[in-house]
Amino acid sequence: MSETLFVNAEAEPLAEQDPNWWRQAAVYQIYPRSFADGNGDGIGDLAGIISRVPYLEALGVDAVWLSPFYPSALADGGYDVDDYRDVDPKIGTLEQFDVMTRALHDAGIKLIVDIVPNHSSNRHVWFREALASPKGSPARGRYIFRDGVGPDGTEPPSDWTSIFGGSAWEPVGDGQFYLHLFAPEQPDFNWDNPEVREDFLTTLRFWADRGVDGFRVDVAHGLAKKLTDDPLPTHADLELAEAVRDGAHMLWDRDEVHDIYTQWRAVLNEYDPPRTAVAEAWVHASRRPRYASPDGLGQAFNFDLLQAGFDAAEFRRIIGDNLELAARSGSSTTWVFSNHDVVRHATRYGLPRHAGGDTTASQEWLRQGGNEAVLDRALGLRRARAAILLMLALPGSAYLYQGEELGLHEVADIPDSARQDPTFFRNAGVEIGRDGCRVPLPWTASGPSLGFGDGAPHLPQPAWYADHAVEAQTADGTSTLSLYREALALRRRLQGDEELAWIDSGDPRVLHFRRPGGWHSVTNFGSAPIPLPAGSVVISSAPLTEQQLPGNATAWLVE
Ligand code: BGC
Repeated sequence: MSETLFVNAEAEPLAEQDPNWWRQAAVYQIYPRSFADGNGDGIGDLAGIISRVPYLEALGVDAVWLSPFYPSALADGGYDVDDYRDVDPKIGTLEQFDVMTRALHDAGIKLIVDIVPNHSSNRHVWFREALASPKGSPARGRYIFRDGVGPDGTEPPSDWTSIFGGSAWEPVGDGQFYLHLFAPEQPDFNWDNPEVREDFLTTLRFWADRGVDGFRVDVAHGLAKKLTDDPLPTHADLELAEAVRDGAHMLWDRDEVHDIYTQWRAVLNEYDPPRTAVAEAWVHASRRPRYASPDGLGQAFNFDLLQAGFDAAEFRRIIGDNLELAARSGSSTTWVFSNHDVVRHATRYGLPRHAGGDTTASQEWLRQGGNEAVLDRALGLRRARAAILLMLALPGSAYLYQGEELGLHEVADIPDSARQDPTFFRNAGVEIGRDGCRVPLPWTASGPSLGFGDGAPHLPQPAWYADHAVEAQTADGTSTLSLYREALALRRRLQGDEELAWIDSGDPRVLHFRRPGGWHSVTNFGSAPIPLPAGSVVISSAPLTEQQLPGNATAWLVE
């Protein structure tokens, strides 16, 4: 492991009532069922999170984004919600949620919760009622039901396939089908229905009243749909329309979706400070600013870096474009390398580009068995360390995914019998899915489930996980965990206005920029060392060699 340089940087929590706290926050994503297990049942829970608040405080994050913790049969890792205003009993209680919120707030950490408005689960009380009610009933009107087609009406209304594979329509046995763009256990809501709209406003208030500071909005671009009368277009026609995405696509990114978020914004602004929201919107870059506008959700994810290889020109283009888009929306941008849906970036960066160095191709690598001979683990981690220092020096919010601070790689060899992701089952043998980035965290180097909890973890941990344990990394000043802690503390100290000036090094492998106050970040994307610019180095992702920045490394300097 490499050495990091660290200058005295006291972590100062952000001011509590600052309405702009989110603009340049470092946000740590917790996938609760895999973070820490407090009751030994093998599933991470709120008690586990509460016990790890000191860890989050020492890490120095400004906020936590909590993936779904609602009652759920876990057909899609909790993104199949049975009840939007409760806690899954497998995970905890509402009282524990309040204790967790207080503990985070006492540690100076904000709380963002995931909200899943595109679909409920098939166990939601409304969906049960819809199934028990006849065709054309108000209960069915909360979801998207259609009659079957074909000579005897037994064929699905269209040939659309769901994102997780298989038909997007499920028959209910009386000639009707319901639409599910994800798993069959995730029926899509009908957002033209005023009751659906009203109910989500109630949900927003429910959590905001409990002290939640913000919301991450799942599939934010999917809510408004406009299905034509029969016949529906074919899947191929819809795919063609994908390329256009001008606000009139039948399913995605329709202009009317923003009417919903205008209503949400009014509710979020009832609070002091206003509650934040960040859209998970897979839309064309030019359409992102509307989601991020202050009249809408206020911020939107961009997944551009997450889809890019480790490449100077690509990083530069993406950073420039997104700063411009954010300025256009009046928001700050977001950066993210990893989350619960993609192959971990330490692994992506250790794969040959195009054979796997981006998200689509890395799924291909998984599909082919996750061949270790193709993966350069050390290089991947070295680049991940360089990339995080670069990201943490950028203006905007930095989203970190649990375990990346431990330098975790993707777990590629989960036995089929242990897999949970619906993509694996619905697309058997084609999609391997997302379980490999959701394996419970290693807290200790030994013991049952490596300190995750007392029981067998719900996804098996590989032997190499022990080398990454928090316990082992805490005391090691050169560990990736130490790098994150030091960088996050420094970032708090150095962060100023949301400005960035590129400095041309004349070398296409190098990205060098300056932030207000004389804070510089220099990344060497090449493999040979480069001379460092003037200034004092305050941290580096790899040891410097005679005042040179080695390949695949980043250093921060101050003037
Ligand atoms: C979430 C996924 C989830 C899907 C359906 C997303 O984009 O991040 O994990 O499977 O929405 O809710």
